[in-house]
Amino acid sequence: MTTAIAAHAAVTKSAFGTTPDGTAVDLYTLKSDAVEARIMTYGARIVSINTADRDGKMGDVVLGYSALDGYLGDATTYFGAVVGRYGNRIANGSFKIDGQEYHVPVNNNGQSLHGGIVGFDKLVWQAHPIAGGVEMTLVSKDGDQGYPGTLTAHVRYSLHHNALRIDYSVSTDKTTVVNLTNHTYFNLAGGGTVLGHEMTLLSDHYTPVNKVLIPTGELPSVEGTPFDFRKATLIGARIEQDNDQLKIAGGYDHNWVLRGANGEVKTAARVYEPASGRVLTVTTTEPGVQFYSGNFLDGTKFGKAGESHEKRSGFCLETQHYPDSPNEPSFPTTLLKPGETRHSMTTFTFSTHAK
Ligand code: GLA
Repeated sequence: MTTAIAAHAAVTKSAFGTTPDGTAVDLYTLKSDAVEARIMTYGARIVSINTADRDGKMGDVVLGYSALDGYLGDATTYFGAVVGRYGNRIANGSFKIDGQEYHVPVNNNGQSLHGGIVGFDKLVWQAHPIAGGVEMTLVSKDGDQGYPGTLTAHVRYSLHHNALRIDYSVSTDKTTVVNLTNHTYFNLAGGGTVLGHEMTLLSDHYTPVNKVLIPTGELPSVEGTPFDFRKATLIGARIEQDNDQLKIAGGYDHNWVLRGANGEVKTAARVYEPASGRVLTVTTTEPGVQFYSGNFLDGTKFGKAGESHEKRSGFCLETQHYPDSPNEPSFPTTLLKPGETRHSMTTFTFSTHAK
């Protein structure tokens, strides 16, 4: 099936295997004049993004596996996935809504990470093609992983020339907390570590964390710290500095506070890889972005071309609400009430820069 709509990417669908319980997984290929992106229904995951380098040579700039089995056998990297209900961490896996305490699975150092044991990254989403893309839908039942309310999530991926746009919308039938993001690992060189990528983060403040990576609640300035990426700086330039925050996380794994209001579209990040000339620009309506430098990749898993997923061979820019917001009243709220539909949007735009 091919749906070609003027001014939009062509969309094709193919089979991508079945899960152990026999559910079929589909792969959607979105192809514009500049980019080809493949997205599957298991975890609503981005499987590949092919873009040109400065010489016009196409290459895949995201980490992943060649087949579904690789993803099914990997519970910890979240390659390409939509993570939820709550992307990132909730302290001790507990929070209160209207005085009632809820408990969600603790799967990371006594904290809840990325929605629990069976988060949205491990479920097969329903999908149908839309103009230039695909819409994925997941209905998470009341009590799923301990979260209250039946949550309906729609995630729309669409390709517009050199920009991959992700639109999220969520609604619930009972007050709940939600924080959806995409956990794609990028490597604009198409291999090696990302330490030689130049990172710019349009952010003046970040959320430092305690020993188990839960924000302390403070929003200090990045000024004079290795967290200052207001000017383009190599990811590797300061990552080994003697800094408590870098030591706790084994590198960068922090939330940066974006400029501009929650809900307003702003540029979050720009990443330039000097050898290929590739540039990734990230815009979002979210109030924060988690820049994770792939510190937990350990080289034991092998990618699409048999390459090992070495430590720091990919970086994530997870546009999001701040971690542990359900327990931190001063952070922008992640509460979602019945009758509301919350929308958010993130774009990944690919271009090149001359030498
Ligand atoms: C997020 C977390 C990291 C790590 C990765 C997955 O980025 O913040 O600590 O868990 O996901 O390995």
